[in-house]
Amino acid sequence: MCGIVAAASKFNVINILSDGLKHLEYRGYDSAGIAVIQDQKINRYRKEGKVVELTSSLTDNINATIGIAHTRWATHGKPSEENAHPHVAEENIAIVHNGIIENHIEIKNKFFKNTTFTSETDSEILAHLINHFAHKNNTLDSVHLSLQEIKGSYALAVINKKNPGQIIVARNGSPLLIGIGDQTNYIASDAHALIEHTNKFIYLEDGDLATITFENVNIFDKNKNKISREIKKSNLSLKSSSKEGYEHFMIKEIFEQPEAVKATIQDRIINNAVPKEILGPNVEKYFSKFKVVQIIACGTSYHAALVAKHWLERLAGIPCHAEIASEFRYRSHAVQKNTLLICISQSGETADTLSALRKVKNEDHYVGTIAICNVPESSLARECDSTLITHAGPEIGVASTKAFTTQLTAIMLLVIVLGKNFEITKDLEKSLCKQLQGLPEKIKSTLALDAEIAELAKVFSDKEHALFLGRGSHFPIAREGALKLKEVSYIHAEAYPAGELKHGPLAIVDENMPVVAVAPNNVVLEKLKSNLEEVKARGGKLYIFADKKAGFKNDDISQVFEIDAPMNPVAPILFTIPLQLLAYHCAIIKGTNVDMPRNLAKSVTVE
Ligand code: G6P
Repeated sequence: MCGIVAAASKFNVINILSDGLKHLEYRGYDSAGIAVIQDQKINRYRKEGKVVELTSSLTDNINATIGIAHTRWATHGKPSEENAHPHVAEENIAIVHNGIIENHIEIKNKFFKNTTFTSETDSEILAHLINHFAHKNNTLDSVHLSLQEIKGSYALAVINKKNPGQIIVARNGSPLLIGIGDQTNYIASDAHALIEHTNKFIYLEDGDLATITFENVNIFDKNKNKISREIKKSNLSLKSSSKEGYEHFMIKEIFEQPEAVKATIQDRIINNAVPKEILGPNVEKYFSKFKVVQIIACGTSYHAALVAKHWLERLAGIPCHAEIASEFRYRSHAVQKNTLLICISQSGETADTLSALRKVKNEDHYVGTIAICNVPESSLARECDSTLITHAGPEIGVASTKAFTTQLTAIMLLVIVLGKNFEITKDLEKSLCKQLQGLPEKIKSTLALDAEIAELAKVFSDKEHALFLGRGSHFPIAREGALKLKEVSYIHAEAYPAGELKHGPLAIVDENMPVVAVAPNNVVLEKLKSNLEEVKARGGKLYIFADKKAGFKNDDISQVFEIDAPMNPVAPILFTIPLQLLAYHCAIIKGTNVDMPRNLAKSVTVE
């Protein structure tokens, strides 16, 4: 959460900073700010709200070869100009920070009892602390001394007007990378912000500090010993970070799903089989040892985890637990021997998921760790034994769409591989491979429902509440549909396993409560039909997304949308698509900010 971009150049950096902020806006959009050193002074520009509020207020007379910038997702202190970064101390030091300084009050009491702070943030303390040490030390030492005092997480960039050519950066727990250019070097929270300038990146590790000028980059470990880090070439393209004619990233990303799923299975299915080598060389560490799987994830990725649990148990006979990472990390577990840990995360930087991984990965009962992740250079991908990359490409819309369906695709590949030592037979492997290969075309035909769902949204978008129902591996899909609707259209939505309806939720069903049902043609179809009759009997209006062969018909109360999802395990992937479209079209009618819904951010790098 929060995005940082900075640059040291021979030339004016203002456009690099403004454009970089636009690319990072998905990380937070409560306020934005820039600080540059110009004419030996720190000049600061800040605005509450979206990046455009800031950039449209900037005048042409900014000409600076060094600068830092920030887009904020508020944690400590409300969204306001005063709380916007950069924060400054005595007009000497300016900082931008992503993370949380947990002991900011203690530091304030220890060093700054009589200092006036101008914001409610935890971050401002860093500017004062660095300035305090900078009276007697150079900037690198001042940052280093300050970091000894603080507890918490940070990606930090600092400028000091006394060293007008240098930026100091530090990372612990929040992502930060350095972009290497020609007569310009860059810093950013992720590569999107810089890809139009360079494709050469150094990914900093926790504990790293670095000094950056337009011609040099020096990296130090936490004891200030000089170290070297590899420069990696990124395959990101500018194209993947643009809307390419679509009105919003969300709809672009929904329509990219056939290609994204295709890319995720590409080269991983060979002769109707999935080789275990897709998990890399470390697969041997755990492959023949694990007996049970524990999955952790947050948000949409947790819904993928719930589907994974169904598939692992039903198809492969592998016992599996799935838990929300923020819950998992703070409770004690009765861990079974030979547990394999799987972490699912689009970004690979979600603080709760990373902390949960770090908490348990070295415990005796865990035999290995696998990441299912969309960002190969992320902390999660680096820290797990094996990584199965989802090739969704960059996902910019805050509400996750193609990341989810590619996670499910990767999970199915993983189920096939892990199940080889359990109950996945050659025949089942072949059948699952064929189903995966058929998915891109089936997703395309499901996307053809777009116009019909846009019509449905016209009667749906004025509702205040909605109930989503599903059973089995489609209950997580109902949850995901409800989450999408909440996130982008702000309609309150809840998901229930359809069989639970009679234990409470039925009480809120009336003619004003739309009920959305996910109805595949599977073993619980008849049970689901009975549950839906209970809704009809109470006057509830039903919108049923059903397999063509499930036998549902339109009537006064029910409207049926047919999905070509044969009775097979990959059906949850197909049933996800219309629910994404429903959320999108409701949001459009309601006029919300679809790609940047209020109060949310895409990458949650704080607890
Ligand atoms: C945020 C995003 C969600 C995402 C969740 C987990 O809440 O808005 O879309 O599902 O984080 O993120 P991850 O990157 O770990 O999948």
